[in-house]
Amino acid sequence: MKILVTGGAGFIGTNFIRMMVLNHREHKIINLDKLTYAGNTDNLSDLVDYPNYSFYVGDICQPDHVEPVITGVDAVVHFAAESHVDRSIQDAAPFVITNIFGTQLLLDFAREARVSRFIYVSSDQIGGSLLPGIYLRENSPASPNNPYAASKAASEHLVYAAYHIHQFPSIVARLSSCYGPYQYPEKLIPLVIANALEFKPLPVYGDGLHVRDWLFADDACKAIYQLLLKGRIGQIYNVGARMEKTNLEVIKRILKLLDRPEKLITFVTDRPGHDRRYAVDPGKIERELSWRPQTEFEEGLRKTIDWYLRNIEWLADTRSSSYREYYESLYSSRFAVEPTKPEF
Ligand code: NAD
Ligand code: TYD
Repeated sequence: MKILVTGGAGFIGTNFIRMMVLNHREHKIINLDKLTYAGNTDNLSDLVDYPNYSFYVGDICQPDHVEPVITGVDAVVHFAAESHVDRSIQDAAPFVITNIFGTQLLLDFAREARVSRFIYVSSDQIGGSLLPGIYLRENSPASPNNPYAASKAASEHLVYAAYHIHQFPSIVARLSSCYGPYQYPEKLIPLVIANALEFKPLPVYGDGLHVRDWLFADDACKAIYQLLLKGRIGQIYNVGARMEKTNLEVIKRILKLLDRPEKLITFVTDRPGHDRRYAVDPGKIERELSWRPQTEFEEGLRKTIDWYLRNIEWLADTRSSSYREYYESLYSSRFAVEPTKPEF
């Protein structure tokens, strides 16, 4: 297959492209990425001479960037997005533009190019905050609570509409919280690793008892590949690891693995509208495709930490001046206020 991957220079896109180019050489991968702050060409620089890989810098919101690369492709795997909740709270407009408008434009061109599969990579956040014991099913209503989640829910609906109206061969892969190599250090796990390595305070929002279902990026990419080969069109598939952890549990495990003291944990002002718990029911993909995550959380964390330790320069480069500006703009006021300490 000739596969167009959007957002391939970001975290999950990089993991997916590396898996495909290195382990599935029968396919040809075309990567279209705008290279926002989250995209990094270093991630894939060792692949540039592979005959089954090509890279184009371009914006999914620009017709003249999309049309030339989508013509003649068999399938699209659409990762490109603005992906960070805190940034969406600071400024929602880029999320509406890329995640909603960009997705619609891509759908239009993909339909015109008569692709035979279109995988839209969505998020468990579209379901909003769930009470303990409740799991997001494929047919649960969308109930997003922040601009990022709202933009992902809107684009899921647009992807479905293309199928419903035009029988467009789309599939939604709805992932839970991913972690692993190449994740930009604005997200919890790489941020904690980076700060802990330097003995810097680890900002924990609110009481730290918010729950996420952690999925190792490799496992997410294998699920996406299975969906590309065998998923049913017009369907949504939840992809989760049944690995629910509170943020404090995650942080304490990282500290143990890095041999850093728990006193680095610093409770800061909560994220406004912070969702308490996300959890998907991944039963459908388990039943239909026999997909299972293969990486235990402890093993995934070890591999992730090991990768960051082996790629200290990558980490330093990503934490450049623009990262420091972002960090300052988000965290200085949060650290400044003395939040209420939770009881353990
Ligand atoms: P990321 O922020 O690391 O990477 C996004 C990539 O998209 C970057 O390389 C960026 O340059 C590119 N991009 C942004 N706007 C673009 C545009 N207009 N045109 C072309 N490229 C553009 O994101 P990620 O964590 O790898 O997430 C990938 C996808 O998976 C996103 O759609 C996200 O919503 C979804 N998702 C992520 C998670 C997670 O835990 N990371 C969980 C569920 C779903
Ligand atoms: P994040 O990695 O931003 O992903 P998401 O918002 O998609 O879940 O955050 C994961 C959890 O960690 C979330 O509950 C917010 C919390 N968090 C902190 O406590 N401190 C931080 O500095 C960050 C970035 C996140």
